[in-house]
Amino acid sequence: MAFSLSLKATDRPDADLVAIALGTTPDLAALKALDKATGGVIGHAVETRTFRGGRDEVLHLTAGKRGERRLVLIGMGGTPTHGSVRRAAALAARTAKKLGAPSLAFWAPGRDADADVESAAAGLHLGAWDYLEVKSPPKPEDKRPSLEKGVLVVADAKASKRAFDVGDALGVGQSLGRRLQMMPGNLCTPQYLADTAREIAKRHGGKVTVLGRKEMEKRGMGSFLCVAQGTTQEPQLITIEYRKGPKGAKPIALVGKGLCFDSGGISIKPAAGMEWMKFDMSGAAGVLGAMEAIGRLGLAVNVVALIGATTNMPSGEAVKPGDVVRASNGKYIEIINTDAEGRLVLADVLVHAGTFDPAVIVDAATLTGACVIALGNTTVGLMTNDEALTEEVRAAASRASEPAWPLPMTPDYKELIVSDVADIKNSGGRAAGTITAAKFLEEFVPEGVPWAHLDVAGTAYSESDLTFIPKGPTGTPVGTFFHFVRGRAS
Ligand code: BES
Ligand code: MN
Ligand code: ZN
Repeated sequence: MAFSLSLKATDRPDADLVAIALGTTPDLAALKALDKATGGVIGHAVETRTFRGGRDEVLHLTAGKRGERRLVLIGMGGTPTHGSVRRAAALAARTAKKLGAPSLAFWAPGRDADADVESAAAGLHLGAWDYLEVKSPPKPEDKRPSLEKGVLVVADAKASKRAFDVGDALGVGQSLGRRLQMMPGNLCTPQYLADTAREIAKRHGGKVTVLGRKEMEKRGMGSFLCVAQGTTQEPQLITIEYRKGPKGAKPIALVGKGLCFDSGGISIKPAAGMEWMKFDMSGAAGVLGAMEAIGRLGLAVNVVALIGATTNMPSGEAVKPGDVVRASNGKYIEIINTDAEGRLVLADVLVHAGTFDPAVIVDAATLTGACVIALGNTTVGLMTNDEALTEEVRAAASRASEPAWPLPMTPDYKELIVSDVADIKNSGGRAAGTITAAKFLEEFVPEGVPWAHLDVAGTAYSESDLTFIPKGPTGTPVGTFFHFVRGRAS
């Protein structure tokens, strides 16, 4: 069932469940009418410290026979930010789903800044999302109504309209991205990603080009192709050209790693947990989700979205450690570890991005396990060849509540990936694994183009439940791509 959002200015939200988000020092003035209508339960809960507004605190209240019958108070903690609003909205929607409320009103009184409204709208989508396509429906007697409608309550609907539309579009884009991520690898294939790109372009106006094995051979993309050597599935280099910006303005290039499954290839991964590697297309999901959001808003901007989609599989034909391949910019690469496949795919995609004469390139990839070790599951690794771009991407990431932190890209790291036999090798070993992967990519970035790389290996999905969203895909990096592009739209 699709989830849809609307915006309303009211002090008596009318919904099956009304969620009120409050910090640790709540101002209840705006809630007077609602509190009165519900027999004073809100004020009572706050006065008696039954509800203290701590982060992720949830107090479910049943009010009187008339008016708003079910309330939840959601805590945002001390000194809430727009990120706290997003989190509270997601938790509210998740709670509504659990309680079987078909409609939800969400209200964070006093939080009406653009970033708050955006975050609330996106957060509601985040919490409402689920993936039920390959689950049998519950027995009728166990069935609860699904959450279909959300209402975001603000003080001034007209003033908040644009921010609401932005958050709503982002939320839809994130839901699309998360669905692609969650889909099993046998359903979300490279061709499926290509078909999804075609649908997005059809909906919003854009041109899709897909290169298969033959076309990539013609272009000398030996790096990408060596990864696809072990699979019978057709690899797909997918491009969406969206040009609604000024004529002649150089496009922003968004690049995503689209490994629909990463077994490691001949350097095969351990069996335990290998199923998580269906998420190795999260960079691609980020690109597609962002394009959906950009298209929905009709942003006046030129964007070229590029996705390198394939699967990394062992076979008698698969690429082996010690092999040397030639990328489309002429560089020779020694394969040390076939599990360092993302950078091999992205190498040719980055070179290809250059043919569109981009103003800037931002790529995202679940590239290294080392990034999970360095930054854990809450912060994206950010590496660039341009300091101003570092700040621009960080700001976009923070607006999206997908925080990113820069890692050094000094020339010394390049020495770790010099090959004895070829120009460069695809693994520099364990030390600084996230940075050496980025240094590898840098060798394929078109000359003179500012470039940023997001390692989302730890943040694109979660292996545990996060309270406000279930374990599985998080939506990262849809929001960072989206806000980055929006920041440059005219
Ligand atoms: N897709 C993985 C990275 C990954 C690991 C993402 C864990 C999410 C969670 C990537 O293709 C990979 O296997 N990288 C190797 C590189 C190494 C062989 C140099 C890694 O991180 O172990
Ligand atoms: Mn790998
Ligand atoms: Zn991978």
